[in-house]
Amino acid sequence: MFIFKSSIGKKFIQAISGAFLIIFLLLHATINFFSVIDSFKGTFGAVAADEALFSKGDGIFKLGCDFMSTPFISIMVPILALGFLVHILYGCWLTYENIQARGGWKRYEVPSKAAADSWSAKNMLVLGIVILGALAFHLTHFWAKMQLPEMFGIGTYENNPYCLLVATFGQWWILAIYLVWFCALWFHLVHGFWSMFQTVGWNGQTWFKRVKVIGVIVASLIVFMFVATAINGFWQAHWGWGATL
Ligand code: HEM
Repeated sequence: MFIFKSSIGKKFIQAISGAFLIIFLLLHATINFFSVIDSFKGTFGAVAADEALFSKGDGIFKLGCDFMSTPFISIMVPILALGFLVHILYGCWLTYENIQARGGWKRYEVPSKAAADSWSAKNMLVLGIVILGALAFHLTHFWAKMQLPEMFGIGTYENNPYCLLVATFGQWWILAIYLVWFCALWFHLVHGFWSMFQTVGWNGQTWFKRVKVIGVIVASLIVFMFVATAINGFWQAHWGWGATL
């Protein structure tokens, strides 16, 4: 079938799965950022004594985590995992084909001015590998203590997600790894966003520049919310709510 065989077909799959992952990241970063808003409202660490979803007295980050546990979102988890898998497999395949077409592992001379000045364009695979490695590390900190026990009964469930935030980001070396991860994510998203629109044909003169600017804005917004969450987690661990535990 054309979509699986032709190079543009594969890029199309890459673009669609990428768009889906960007939507996930926007939602995920926004819910995490609620923990920063909680800090300003004085509700960082506020979790009701019961384990019910959406309890009165929960901070908005806790409410966001509860939303992620609702059946509608839980159904999305395997779809999300599939989205990641498709994106990774096709990303490797596309890179392999590019290398073959170029006759070996060398940087290509790109005629397009925009592509030529883009460092990320040439390093999407390496950036993707860094992001994937850190994602595995990340899942051990939060997902393994929330959704894994909840959905599969494996491990001990932590009802207070603020505890996970301070336990994770309170350690400076973990914070440092996460910050490097967010940088890689920024470069990957900036190029990925632009490339996605190129693939679906939005590459006219006017839109070419606009899409680049919108890509930088979307990537920066996502990464800003993650960075703020992590740094605030470090702050809360040492001088805020975590320090009083
Ligand atoms: C400050 C940064 C981040 C924090 C505090 C954070 C927090 C969390 C939490 C609390 C969960 C568990 C959600 C639940 O079980 O209800 C989770 C899961 C997950 N995170 Fe993150 N995350 C961060 C950054 C990222 C980034 C950058 C990515 C992807 C590149 C990512 C990908 C995922 C995935 C795939 C899951 C599992 C699916 C899910 O539970 O929805 N996270 N994260």
